[in-house]
Amino acid sequence: MKDAYTIAVVEGDGIGPEVAQSAVAVLEAALGADTPLRFSHHPAGAELFRETGESFPEATFAACRDADAVLHGAAGIPGVNHPDGTEAGLDFTLRLRFELDLFANIRPIRLFKGVASPLANVKPGGIDYIILRENSEGLYAARGAGSRLRGEVAVDTLVQTRVGIERIVHQAFALARASAGAPEDGVRRVTCCDKANVLRSYAFFRQVFDEVAANYPDIEAEHVLIDAMTMHLVLRPGHYNVIVTENMFGDIISDLGAATIGGMGMAPSAEVGLTRGLFQAAHGSAPDIAGKGMANPYGTILSAASMLDWLGGRHDDARLTSAATRVRNAVDGAIALGVLTRDLGGDRGTVTATETVRRLVA
Ligand code: IPM
Ligand code: MN
Repeated sequence: MKDAYTIAVVEGDGIGPEVAQSAVAVLEAALGADTPLRFSHHPAGAELFRETGESFPEATFAACRDADAVLHGAAGIPGVNHPDGTEAGLDFTLRLRFELDLFANIRPIRLFKGVASPLANVKPGGIDYIILRENSEGLYAARGAGSRLRGEVAVDTLVQTRVGIERIVHQAFALARASAGAPEDGVRRVTCCDKANVLRSYAFFRQVFDEVAANYPDIEAEHVLIDAMTMHLVLRPGHYNVIVTENMFGDIISDLGAATIGGMGMAPSAEVGLTRGLFQAAHGSAPDIAGKGMANPYGTILSAASMLDWLGGRHDDARLTSAATRVRNAVDGAIALGVLTRDLGGDRGTVTATETVRRLVA
């Protein structure tokens, strides 16, 4: 347990500042006057790139590297690009993933009571699984290193290493072991989602998955191909408990899963390595609604709760883990009270949602 924890906050672009400020306000309410959290704010993102030519200043990187945890709003503005055509605002997240070795991207997909799923016949609690996205290799490993040839050919390479697969698959089984199992049958289950039928890199992923799975006889292990998975997550989401998958596949099914529980605004994430963590919602910067007070802050607030859990677990600090539970319960409570933003079919704004959670958490 530490006396104080430094949290590097980067608000970013679009709705990023609104949702980040909301999460900080909730954390302050949850921990009260003698909070051990010390927030420091740092610039990064597409807007900064537009103004200064730099998307991720070295000083911001150093602050994130040296902090106990990083809390991010959202980043990116369409069209604010590097010369290679990729988005400059994404440098912050992507560089932190690689340079701080945040290899595990933990994305809970849970249907809250009070949120209508677009899927017929699912009830609250009927969707409750974790997408564990490998976050440091896969197809994203090629970021900034692909090649273009004479305006005719472009190549990005998908990278899978034994070490990288082993560590993410071990984490998947640990998450399943700590969970209550799949909603449908209560079975603790890890699903390896790949495309082993077509590409060697995925066949390797599956082989290493099977080797690691042999260490966890108490947890069910299965394989599903990524294309079939998109269908199953719509037709039978209650079957899933923990899904482990390659970086790009994890990116894609995260949005699919989010759609089934009310949209991207309900999708938190925790991007962690052995010693560092980045916490942000899985959504983007939504420039169309930025600054209008309409953004759904729940995804970022839930990510902040994961930050408390992770920090509290790492430092054996019950002040933080108990605050994490209170924050999650307060979000549950606010949603159950019908405090819904536009994306959830309601008419409440960011401030009302935030204030409701603050009231319930205190
Ligand atoms: C996500 C986002 C990121 C990704 C962007 C912001 C780099 O879409 O976290 O899912 O593509 O991984
Ligand atoms: Mn994504």
